Amino acid sequence: MNMSHSSVTDWGLKHVEIEEHFTILDVGCGGGRTIEKLAALARRGMVLKLVTAVETQYYWPDLVKDMQEILRVLKPGGTLIVIAESYKKRAYDRRQRLVMKPLRSTNLGVNEHRELFSTAGFTDIQIFEERTKGWICGIGKKPV
Ligand SMILES: C[S@@+](CC[C@H](N)C(=O)[O-])C[C@H]1O[C@@H](n2cnc3c(N)ncnc32)[C@H](O)[C@@H]1O
Repeated sequence: MNMSHSSVTDWGLKHVEIEEHFTILDVGCGGGRTIEKLAALARRGMVLKLVTAVETQYYWPDLVKDMQEILRVLKPGGTLIVIAESYKKRAYDRRQRLVMKPLRSTNLGVNEHRELFSTAGFTDIQIFEERTKGWICGIGKKPV
């Protein structure tokens, strides 16, 4: 996973500024490559300013509640960034459905990602797509 998720993670993280004093929580960290990378950037972390979630939100049992829990632990003005190498691009994407269904994974489209961040209480929401690769990156902030 560390190897196969490396490119999508690097692409997604380019959409946020990571400062030296940020304290960062990586939800669903897997093999830990993202944490290693972030720890090198945020050497003097003090407040929970950024939550990253790479290739993991598909498995969260209650997306709105789980995003609200992330919102709860973030400092006001803190950021959640969700990065995924797969998302729903059309109403009916047969191949993707075949993969996602047995895993009981959630497969959201762009507007559904935006709605999820908004329903959970995030503001300043931005959704980025890398359409040629099929990657998505959602960013939201905890209101100040
Ligand atoms: C496909 S791996 C991605 C790992 C890592 N973020 C990466 O990019 O390599 C999915 C991760 O989600 C975690 N996970 C599964 N169910 C979860 C849940 N309900 N809440 C939080 N994390 C979960 C797994 O333990 C695993 O680390």
